[in-house]
Amino acid sequence: MILYSPQDGLLTLHTAHTTYQMELEPHGFLRHLYYGARTDNADFRYLHRNYDRGYSGNPAELRNDRSFSVDTMPQEYTGFNAGDFRTPSLRAVHADGSYAADLRYAGHEIVNGKYALPGLPAAFDRDGNAMTLIITLKDTATPLQVRLYYGVFEELDVITRATEIVNGGTDAVYLEKAASACMDIPFGKWELLHFHGRHCMERQAERVPLGHNAQTVESRRGASSHHHNPFVILCAPDTREYAGECYGFMPVWSGNHKTEVETDYLGSVRVVTGIHDSQFRWKLEPGQSFYTPEVLLSYSATGFSTLSHNYHDMIRYHICRSQYVGKPRSILVNNWEATFFTFDTERLLRIAREAAKLGVDLFVMDDGWFGTRNDDNSGLGDWFVDERKLPGGLRPLIEGVKELGMKFGIWMEPEMVNEDSDLYRRHPEWVLRAPNRAPMYCRNQLVLDMSREDVRQYLYDCFSTLLRDNEISYVKWDMNRSVSDMYSNALPADRQGEAGHRYVLGVYDLLERLTQTFPDVLFEGCAGGGGRFDAGMLYYTPQIWCSDDTDAIERLAIQHGTSFGYPAFTMGAHVSACPNQQTGRVTSMYTRGVVAMSGTFGYELDLNRLSDSEKDEVRLQIDAFKKVEALIRDGIYYRLNELEEQEFYSVWEFAARDGSEALVNLVVKHVLANAPLCHVRLKGLDPAATYRVEGSDSVYSGAALMSGGYTFPMLWGDYPSMQLRFMRVG
Ligand code: GLA
Repeated sequence: MILYSPQDGLLTLHTAHTTYQMELEPHGFLRHLYYGARTDNADFRYLHRNYDRGYSGNPAELRNDRSFSVDTMPQEYTGFNAGDFRTPSLRAVHADGSYAADLRYAGHEIVNGKYALPGLPAAFDRDGNAMTLIITLKDTATPLQVRLYYGVFEELDVITRATEIVNGGTDAVYLEKAASACMDIPFGKWELLHFHGRHCMERQAERVPLGHNAQTVESRRGASSHHHNPFVILCAPDTREYAGECYGFMPVWSGNHKTEVETDYLGSVRVVTGIHDSQFRWKLEPGQSFYTPEVLLSYSATGFSTLSHNYHDMIRYHICRSQYVGKPRSILVNNWEATFFTFDTERLLRIAREAAKLGVDLFVMDDGWFGTRNDDNSGLGDWFVDERKLPGGLRPLIEGVKELGMKFGIWMEPEMVNEDSDLYRRHPEWVLRAPNRAPMYCRNQLVLDMSREDVRQYLYDCFSTLLRDNEISYVKWDMNRSVSDMYSNALPADRQGEAGHRYVLGVYDLLERLTQTFPDVLFEGCAGGGGRFDAGMLYYTPQIWCSDDTDAIERLAIQHGTSFGYPAFTMGAHVSACPNQQTGRVTSMYTRGVVAMSGTFGYELDLNRLSDSEKDEVRLQIDAFKKVEALIRDGIYYRLNELEEQEFYSVWEFAARDGSEALVNLVVKHVLANAPLCHVRLKGLDPAATYRVEGSDSVYSGAALMSGGYTFPMLWGDYPSMQLRFMRVG
């Protein structure tokens, strides 16, 4: 609900459990008043008191009221060089060389439905309940305008924000910073929960206090990165999984991003989030608009779990467009860790045959099928089947897989090229590379200039032909290096600051064309595992390979961190061989299954190499997974133990939305002698119903399981685990 009260100049956004209020202040400033738990239509102007604060100046027309300063005012979107010394939202350079923007209210509109952002992924209105508020601000001295977009998803407690910057003048303006949103939280003590990592260890939850300084969560790697996920949470010091206040900020963006969290001299916290301003300089021609990516905001007064549920449902219903949302995904087997580059049709079919016998539905051929790709030094860019490995092309392999009753999937890495490829030999100008400068190599590959229409057309032609001519049900879209050398041969000198941004827009454009042309193909995103795991990619690819680390124990931390923002059905998770290829660790097949089932389940190994008893286990695992697949995909996910307990054990639950069942998973990472018992309280059950633990005679009431909880038996050995299915029986 969006309310406007003209007599007080108040704009109030209500969702089911939150309220967001701002004021069209009489001098034209857009003052942020409140974001937090749902209230009545209270006028929150009373919260803010002005005092004369030394060294915080006053606008010209208010010079005699020394208590009025934009430097101490909570704001919605700030200009630059106009009196607010905190982190700016915008930095624009005008034709006369001046750097300034003093933004004042010029009008607003409230419309039904959800705004869209040209060329960008953004939340969409699946059920016709969203509303949009657009506020126009104008610079006092130039024709620069800023339009602030607010999308209200009432039931999900999510408010989306995005910004359009319009050059209403006759000269070009250069944008050096264009954040999606600014949010001031003037009161309270806050901590930052963010998700950092590295290749093979993405999205590690880290909670740190805020000092009187600025902290940033950012990527300058051209992609959202393994290193800092574009999602942060501000939480009160006492916030836990099921209690306490927290705010989430999730940019819907897959490139360089930056979230700045600054505590000012009065203790007010400012969060500015969106694209990174490093190496960003956008020439905005007269009459043109620049649209920032969107950011999804949410607030919970009842802990991290509620916040996660808001994001999970937002992504499920309003970000992932794929028709596979809400539908069973195939159980797949991928040959990467089984064969790497060394395979031929027969070797792949051998894996597929065994997989079919065990109940796998989809065979995925990974890297190595094209060009002269015998290792990772050559071939990227030549998207034509290597007939030395696959004689007769893909057809015999696909036919063989189909005869086994399975579907076929394929790997591709559209954005990259090897110097040792026909494509590069033909088009060296198609890569990102500064003139007269050796590029940075990573896995011996270079990055195609996705800002170029001719590059995208080439890739579209290659992949649309591949998908049209072959029965391919699944695509793994990979991206295996950080992007550097951001220089495009297709852009003039004064637009080179646009190359990195246009690269991502180009990726989105190609994804848009391919996913729209082939809606029946299930696309899985990947970037060396989870190096581009973000809401922008999920708009196109409803699942993303969560990490190149398939070790079940390491995966616990990766999937736990990921779960704060993203639902389980978005996380690619596979059972792989032991000793694990990334860590050398040995875990039981059972534990590997429990962990991989909390995502889009599959296998990443040569099933022929398993012993007969292991094969029997796989068969049972697949049968078990099929029974709970819908629950994992569409149920509500609960983390049952706190972040600081994760070092020893991890417990999580999927509860059916109708209370009919729950799946509780425990993995002990570190067994202790004479250990305290592991006890949890279940969530999401019907208190009045009775539940039986599958495979046993134990029966409990929902109320008992949720209040008294459940005590696990003591588990022994290396990395033991337990998966319990509670079924409603009365
Ligand atoms: C990346 C992916 C892997 C695999 C390889 C192939 O690292 O994350 O799963 O596809 O590329 O080169």
